[in-house]
Amino acid sequence: MNNRSASNILVALLFVFGLGCRSGQNTTTQTYTINKSAEGSKGMVVSAHPFATQVGLDILKKGGNAVDAAIAVQFALAVCYPVAGNIGGGGFMVYVDKNGNSNTLDFREMAPAKAFADMYLDAKGDPITELSINGPLAGGVPGTVAGMWEAYSKYSKLKDWKALVMPAVLGAKNGVILTSNEAQGLNNNKIKMDSINHGATVYTKQYWKTGDVMKLPELAATLSAIAEQGPKGFYEGKVASQIANAMQKDGGIITLEDLKNYKAVWRNPIITTYRGQKVVTMPPPSSGGMVLVQLLKSVEPYNLKANQWQSATNVHLMVEAERRSYADRATHMGDMDYYPVPMTTLTSDEYIASRMKNFDPNKASKSDNTKAGNIKETEQTTHYNVVDAEGNAVSITTTLNGGYGSKYVIREAGFLLNNEMDDFSVKPGVPNLYGLIGNEANKIEPGKRMLSSMTPAIVLDKNGKPNIIVGTPGGSTIITSVFQTIINIMDFGMAADEAVARPRFHHQWMPDVVMLENDCLTPEVKEKLKEMGHNLVTRGKIGRVEAIIIKDGKYSGGADPRGDDDAKGY
Ligand code: DON
Repeated sequence: MNNRSASNILVALLFVFGLGCRSGQNTTTQTYTINKSAEGSKGMVVSAHPFATQVGLDILKKGGNAVDAAIAVQFALAVCYPVAGNIGGGGFMVYVDKNGNSNTLDFREMAPAKAFADMYLDAKGDPITELSINGPLAGGVPGTVAGMWEAYSKYSKLKDWKALVMPAVLGAKNGVILTSNEAQGLNNNKIKMDSINHGATVYTKQYWKTGDVMKLPELAATLSAIAEQGPKGFYEGKVASQIANAMQKDGGIITLEDLKNYKAVWRNPIITTYRGQKVVTMPPPSSGGMVLVQLLKSVEPYNLKANQWQSATNVHLMVEAERRSYADRATHMGDMDYYPVPMTTLTSDEYIASRMKNFDPNKASKSDNTKAGNIKETEQTTHYNVVDAEGNAVSITTTLNGGYGSKYVIREAGFLLNNEMDDFSVKPGVPNLYGLIGNEANKIEPGKRMLSSMTPAIVLDKNGKPNIIVGTPGGSTIITSVFQTIINIMDFGMAADEAVARPRFHHQWMPDVVMLENDCLTPEVKEKLKEMGHNLVTRGKIGRVEAIIIKDGKYSGGADPRGDDDAKGY
């Protein structure tokens, strides 16, 4: 029994749900709880926000399967969690059904047709960072709505699209109460957002307090169009025109044609084994799956459990694996539809073993000290997991990229546009928002998908059924957080809530530093790592991991204590 399993935190928030009521009249108010752990055997949802978790659970209780619930969660997050939940962004879904059949869906944003390699460089060839990070030009063509529709068309059991979108419509129309984190996040970004949008928007019309109700009428109308017409309600017709007109007016390049041409794509999962269990994860345009395979395979020959959790020996080994894999990421990884990513080699046992051949258990290797990336802690993406009564499992990571994406609001349609274009390599060797550098493989090309680190993953049990469902936000730290969580569970036997709560560390090749979450290692371990030659730096929170473990028909959910993340099961 870990010390968090009983830590269901009662959040004294009034939550205006208003189902079926007109705002201001007969509004149903209710208190709700945020659970950092939950148990169940029929259904489980873990997401970044209790509104979204509840919406997903309700769909499961109505007989929806994991995919139905996930779609409802995605739309709900776009309302209650605007910092990362979205219809203006994209993401990846990993799906494994109760029999172990797997599939992945790529609903990553695409570069608009008018995009070109040097679009964020000035006349001297220097990057104009602001352009790829803030404002309309930073946006890729959103993939979320198409992705949700694809998932629905292939796997829905409920076969009632409208029922999946309506909770979000009602949430936007009647308003959801802001948590302290949400209120603060919006307030902290108000000045920047208002300057980008030439005035206040619906998200920043006031300074918010915990418990305020934020109504999003334009978003409600957009979501209604999606509920009624499916993807046509977004990629064609009124909403598409609102997007294209806003772009023309404010200097973006997404056109009606780009919206119409957007496609979500089913891709063959990356599958590896770790300690005899299959791990199913995301192929390019995510680097997450390939790097996760490299990391797991690099440490598999070692008995991590023989040493203490986060001992110098284990941290050193894991950091050295991370250094090598992130170097590969920078050079070899990009959208496979545009660049020949050597995926088979990068994930082969021989190659990974050869990369670790020069691993010295007593000494840090050195990353080439050319460009040290500047890591900014503006990390917002979001991850959610769902398991249904049959044991089908969904793991989705979705994002606008930075917090509130480009911070640019398509005013008439009421949603925030992503700033995913910054995930491309805007110039070889120049670090992005997360300090990641890239090259030719990830250069900007029209229609191309920018390389991602998002790593939704599902580990199967020895019978080939879903066992661990996991993922997280965190920019470049996503892959190492998923890696550490899998190790916490598989090597150290932790429960889901404990595995997600434990502090994390991160190395990404460049800059050549080991980042420690809130200075997390013991003084002795830190001393040993320094003696080996590691540069240690402390930083704030790393990731917000959500995990579900399925064992003997019982589901245990773990929601990250670093935010409002909530697990609910039944
Ligand atoms: O796709 C990626 O790798 C990034 N756009 C993810 C950004 C992210 O995780 C921000 N969040 N915490």
